[in-house]
Order: sequence, then C-alpha cells, then structure tokens
Amino acid sequence: MEYESIYDNPVFFEGYRQIRARKNNHNDLLEQPAMRALLPDLNGKTVLDLGCGYGRNCADAAARGARRVVGIDLSERMLEVARRENAGPNIAYQRMDLARAGELGESFDLVYSSLAFHYVRDFPDLARTLAGLVCPGGTLLFSQEHPIVTAPRSDRPRWLRDADGEPEAFLLSDYNRPGRRESHWIVDGVVVWHRTLGEIVTSLAQNGFRINALRESAPDDAALAADPSLCRELHKPNFLIIRADRMIDGGGQA
Ligand SMILES: C[S@@+](CC[C@H](N)C(=O)[O-])C[C@H]1O[C@@H](n2cnc3c(N)ncnc32)[C@H](O)[C@@H]1O
Repeated sequence: MEYESIYDNPVFFEGYRQIRARKNNHNDLLEQPAMRALLPDLNGKTVLDLGCGYGRNCADAAARGARRVVGIDLSERMLEVARRENAGPNIAYQRMDLARAGELGESFDLVYSSLAFHYVRDFPDLARTLAGLVCPGGTLLFSQEHPIVTAPRSDRPRWLRDADGEPEAFLLSDYNRPGRRESHWIVDGVVVWHRTLGEIVTSLAQNGFRINALRESAPDDAALAADPSLCRELHKPNFLIIRADRMIDGGGQA
C-alpha cells in the first residue's frame, strides 16, 4: 500500500519509534542539543513547528512560555502520538503538507522544523513559503540531513573502511547532482531530496532571511563518552542546522 507519508507505513512507524526510544540516539546526542542552543526567547511568542512528529518540540515551546503553538505534520500516525502525549491548551495540531503551510494564512514569531525539510522536493519554493510564515523580525530555526549525507546515491559506497571494517573516511559522491534519493532506511523506498548547501543558503537570502547561525553537527566529548561509535561522525556532519532572522524590511530578492 502507498502511503502519502512514509511515517504512516506501520513497519516504518514502528522502526522509527524504536530508533527514537533508543538511549543515545542521534537526535538526542547530536541534533536536539544544537537546536535548543539556538532557540530564541519564546515567552509570549507564537510558534509553528513544521513536521512536528510526536509533538515533543511543540510541548517544549509551550513549556518555554509560547502563547500559541501550531504543529503540522503529514503523518496521521505521528499526529495521533502528538495529540495523545503532547497536548496542551496552547497547542494545536493539524494534518498538512508543510510545503503548503502558506495556506495557514498566518505568520509566527518562530517557525521551527526538526529533520523534515529533506523530505520536501523544492527548496526555493519552500523558502518563499517560509518568508510568508515568519513575521518580520521573527526567526526561522531548522535542521535537516546535511547535504553531504544526502548526496551519495544508495548504490554508492558511503565509507572507505580499513582492514578491520572500521570507517576510515566518508565517501562523498554526486554532491553536484541535486534531486531525488531513494534508499533503504527501516523499509525500502524512503525518498529524500538532495540539494547543495549553496542552494539552501541562497534561497533563504533571496527571500529576506539573514542567517545568523549555521551549525554542522559534531559529537562533543560527552556524546563520544555516551556512544564511542559516534567517532565516525567526526568524518562528516550528519545534520545541518540553520537559524535565520527574517529582515524587518523584507530584504532579499537578489
Ligand atoms: C524525522 S521525523 C522528525 C519529527 C519531529 N520533528 C522530531 O524532531 O521529533 C520527520 C517528520 O516530518 C514529517 N514530514 C515529512 N514530510 C512532511 C511534509 N511534506 N509535510 C509535513 N510533515 C512531513 C514526518 O511525517 C515526520 O513526522
């Protein structure tokens, strides 16, 4: 059966749940600490979470004082968990393709998205949509799989290994071939969209955003102590994290 969101495939949903439940998963050790360090003050603010999944970041925003939080996701299964586990008087969940979030007809002080943008095909179009969703002077904070890791096609080797099979180097290929990447992750046929860092940054700049932080995930000493196998993450960044402010005068359009 074809699902509109791979997260609604029951096998994928269960496999993903197990990954997120695992102690020391990459989200908890690499991505979330970097995202939280870049959050603006949310007291009294409005927040939109694109690809909110289980709604944990919506609940976190509400706990930080946000007065209104909207979480959207394409997956009904993920939203079921969000509504059950992370409900709140200031939190509303809605099933929607984030590429169509402009249809909300509302702008927010913070537009947040954790690890969902690599599922969206057209980044320049998404950047135009984001410009309408972030209030002038507001903030966009997002993470996605880093272009270095979305680049290789699934039939290419990703690692150069030593005689013991330990990773010696990450093999970057096809970086300058943007487009669809289909691979096996939990199930066959998982699709993400590769684009270069240049396309991401330029699309944001051309739509009135000023980038004030660009982070590339790396394990710190605490993460390496918790999971020594993370030393392979010293060869390449797994996640790209960008915080950008929407300029008051609209800016952009080079
Ligand atoms: C890796 S999960 C991350 C979930 C959540 N942001 C978190 O950090 O826990 C990616 C989420 O993006 C959602 N997603 C993927 N493509 C989407 C789209 N086009 N529109 C809305 N949500 C989407 C998936 O359903 C899934 O819940």
